[in-house]
Amino acid sequence: MKFFLDTASLEEIAEAASWGALAGVTTNPTLYARIGGKLADFEDHIKKICQLVKGPVSAEVTASDTEGMVAQGRDLAKLANNVVVKVPMTLEGLAATRSLADEGIEVNMTLVFTVPQAILAARAGARYVSPFVGRFDDISEDGLDHLASIVAALNNYDMRDEGPNGQQVEVIAASIRNPNHVTQAALIGADIATVPFDILKKCAKHPLTTNGLAAFEADWEKVKQQ
Ligand code: G3P
Repeated sequence: MKFFLDTASLEEIAEAASWGALAGVTTNPTLYARIGGKLADFEDHIKKICQLVKGPVSAEVTASDTEGMVAQGRDLAKLANNVVVKVPMTLEGLAATRSLADEGIEVNMTLVFTVPQAILAARAGARYVSPFVGRFDDISEDGLDHLASIVAALNNYDMRDEGPNGQQVEVIAASIRNPNHVTQAALIGADIATVPFDILKKCAKHPLTTNGLAAFEADWEKVKQQ
């Protein structure tokens, strides 16, 4: 499983990239608003993110009609070679995904919750589908169960491998709220987890690691004094 960072913060992306395991970034309008992003700066901001990370950077369209999404998607794709156009899971979004995919523009279909939505996204040519885990948990459903169903269903039709028609889709476990979501997404076989900065930091930590290191350091002091 690859790690993407789910943020629009340049500082967080730069720091996470320095840890050596970052494969991409996902943004959305909420994440851009959260860092105080201005409309006029949006395209420059996406360009800056694309320079900080080599892998795919998802930038989301905000139009709700197909034509508008396709036009925005084309503009976003011109910003950098590693831009992936994020499109919401609507009928208009499916149509936009087909148009953009046919033009060779990679799409990450977002706000995916169910198996039919994920299959439709894949069939419409999405390069990535993003099932949201935490938002199911928020309404007392098990988001990981839904993620597992989506991965299993796409596997049934070889849609996660290069299929006979060249179709290929990667599953991005999104709306990740804790390290256990990451653990379970990996066991389920999601291709990618897009993780908020604080959760990614938590993923690298464990009390036994901290305690073990403290013991090594204390014992090394004894060695130095012998
Ligand atoms: O990338 C979008 C998704 O990860 C959003 O997560 O926490 O707003 O449900 P959240």
